Amino acid sequence: MNRWEELWQTGETPWDKGYAAPPLSEYLKRGDTVLHRAKRVLVPGCGSGHDVRELQRHGIGTTGLDLSETAVVQARAQTAVGDEDYLCGDLFAEGWRKGRSFDAVWEHTCFCAIDPELRPAYARAMSEILPPGGWLSGAFYLTPWDPGEDSTGPPFEASREEIIDLFEPWFVLREDWVPSKAYPGREGKEWLAVFERK
Ligand SMILES: C[S@@+](CC[C@H](N)C(=O)[O-])C[C@H]1O[C@@H](n2cnc3c(N)ncnc32)[C@H](O)[C@@H]1O
Repeated sequence: MNRWEELWQTGETPWDKGYAAPPLSEYLKRGDTVLHRAKRVLVPGCGSGHDVRELQRHGIGTTGLDLSETAVVQARAQTAVGDEDYLCGDLFAEGWRKGRSFDAVWEHTCFCAIDPELRPAYARAMSEILPPGGWLSGAFYLTPWDPGEDSTGPPFEASREEIIDLFEPWFVLREDWVPSKAYPGREGKEWLAVFERK
């Protein structure tokens, strides 16, 4: 059993706040974002699916993907908003992608959850999931740890520059800002970026 499945089975899911990521809700309130214009959005590492349903509440067709079967079962047990769906799969594998296409990704606490050594593979996977002109948008948790705090991840920290460099072979940064809304304790620690697939 993988570690994530174990955590979901034992209910050790402190990241699950019971509602969508505030930076996503704030971004969607703008209206007419790249996510609104997408035909289908993928949410990798969707957990129990709060962000998936938030996107769907804005009329955005969304698919959530998670490695943990238990997380996916929990997501599917929620009242459906529209035609959102959930897949169990590893974002680094290709099997779950067969016959599906996405023109945008919403990333939130998946990137910071994976081993930093896998970040180049994450960027490559995003480049394969999205076609030219597709959009990778996300709230990246840059500094999850306070100075002096035990910094064993996950979540693993990252800098804005590191993330831009990582995606640079396939993506151009079009817009970025520090969201003004955050889960309690995450204020000022996240960075919202919108990248376009070259
Ligand atoms: C920190 S949790 C965040 C969940 C959700 N985004 C939230 O904020 O509530 C990270 C999630 O990513 C999933 N995950 C980790 N590695 C993954 C992978 N390689 N492919 C798909 N999902 C993965 C885990 O099972 C877990 O549900």
